[in-house]
Amino acid sequence: MPTDSELLNLTACPRCDKTPLSKQDQHYYCSACKTEFPLVGGIPWLFADPEASLGEWRNRLHFELQSLAHEGQRLEGELKSGNLSALSKKRLLHQKEATDSHRNSLRQILAPIDIQSMSASYESYLALRTRLPADQGLHTYYANLHRDWCWGDDENEASLLQIQKVAAESNGGSSLGNTLVLGTGACRLAYDIHMQMETDLTIAVDFNPLLLLIAQEIMRGEKPELFEFPIAPRSIDDFAVLRELSAPSPVRDNFHLVLGDVLRPSFAAGQFDTVVTPWLIDIISEEFSVFSQRINTLLKPGGRWINFGSLAFDSPTRARRYSREEALELLEENGFAKPNTLEATIPYMCSPASRQCRMETVLTFAATKAENIKAPARHTALPNWIVTGKEPVPLLDSFRTQAMTTQIYMFIMSMIDGKRTIQDMAKLVDEQKLMTRKEAEPAIRNFLTKMYDDAERQSNL
Ligand SMILES: C[S@@+](CC[C@H](N)C(=O)[O-])C[C@H]1O[C@@H](n2cnc3c(N)ncnc32)[C@H](O)[C@@H]1O
Repeated sequence: MPTDSELLNLTACPRCDKTPLSKQDQHYYCSACKTEFPLVGGIPWLFADPEASLGEWRNRLHFELQSLAHEGQRLEGELKSGNLSALSKKRLLHQKEATDSHRNSLRQILAPIDIQSMSASYESYLALRTRLPADQGLHTYYANLHRDWCWGDDENEASLLQIQKVAAESNGGSSLGNTLVLGTGACRLAYDIHMQMETDLTIAVDFNPLLLLIAQEIMRGEKPELFEFPIAPRSIDDFAVLRELSAPSPVRDNFHLVLGDVLRPSFAAGQFDTVVTPWLIDIISEEFSVFSQRINTLLKPGGRWINFGSLAFDSPTRARRYSREEALELLEENGFAKPNTLEATIPYMCSPASRQCRMETVLTFAATKAENIKAPARHTALPNWIVTGKEPVPLLDSFRTQAMTTQIYMFIMSMIDGKRTIQDMAKLVDEQKLMTRKEAEPAIRNFLTKMYDDAERQSNL
């Protein structure tokens, strides 16, 4: 998968929008804002703020490594504690070995994001996880690798079939031209589209370096072995299953990977015949209309947006948790012709090693760009006072409440000395006039229950 001029020609600077980027030695370069975008394991790292995003993924890697080390120690501790049946010993030993091996694999695979410079402690990373969506870590979609490249043939075939059907039934047919896949994950659908449909070129984008670095290896024809950690193991051997991941054949030419944020796309306007969004529109933070405008901007006149996956918007704003009908109406309000749609119930993440297997009724649509919509403003994930650090931190009401709560929590923590009871602590809280003794006792109990549960749950993959 060489990086070459056909990819460069389609790029725009994710920071200042200048088109195209150029390539110099080991990085991409924007001559307008003078930003260097590194190659990470050969994959262009096209984030608006390449250094900050690299630092952030490095932090997340470091955090994962620390968590896995912690988990390994915990398993070892339980193994030594005695009082275990032979079967429990066998299972814990297997989990411990798998955890250690997974930790080593992670370190090797993610060597390109360079963790050597990191030396922060586990506790400070717990406190500092921010910036990227808080619910998206390196392992968030890790199981997708196993589905895409090991046991997920039924789902993978059903997924491709939806795209093939909806494309064949809409203007343009199965010829996809220049195709951009956003939120590509472990890449199987992008690979299948490129290998089995008529694309001139395919660019697959995601912000998760673990998924793309492994997918790159697999699509080159390598067969990495990685542990799967099923959520509901079927049997004692299924708590950690070593799997070989492989592609049916190496990917053909004109397939490119890009690491970047789909909300700040690094591509010039009006260059794509097809944009594909698999399982993406309902998990991103951007409101659906605005994201539709962003896709409209990327498409050529008459180009198609093909969407596939779930429709489970969970915005904190209830009005934005759109139904199928509202979402389809919004497409027409944002520059698209009435879309062709298809619904099918397909298997979702049915690992043979897990007792859980979901069926999902997926919506697939193909919407043709009917008019040019004004490009939406650049997406800003966080306000300036967080990003630049040069503006005063506003005293928001929620911060005020948090500050008070934190003070009380700190006070409770400082009272834990291995001797005091909850009743002793409630008395001290009362003396400090933070709460009455009657209020304090259940509040301290709730807080300690949460702390206890968190401690029990820590470090699960
Ligand atoms: C639900 S998964 C779907 C993965 C893949 N498309 C599939 O069908 O299996 C969503 C994917 O979008 C990626 N993603 C989420 N937000 C993103 C963003 N702002 N920029 C780039 N990738 C993003 C995640 O890393 C993840 O791989």
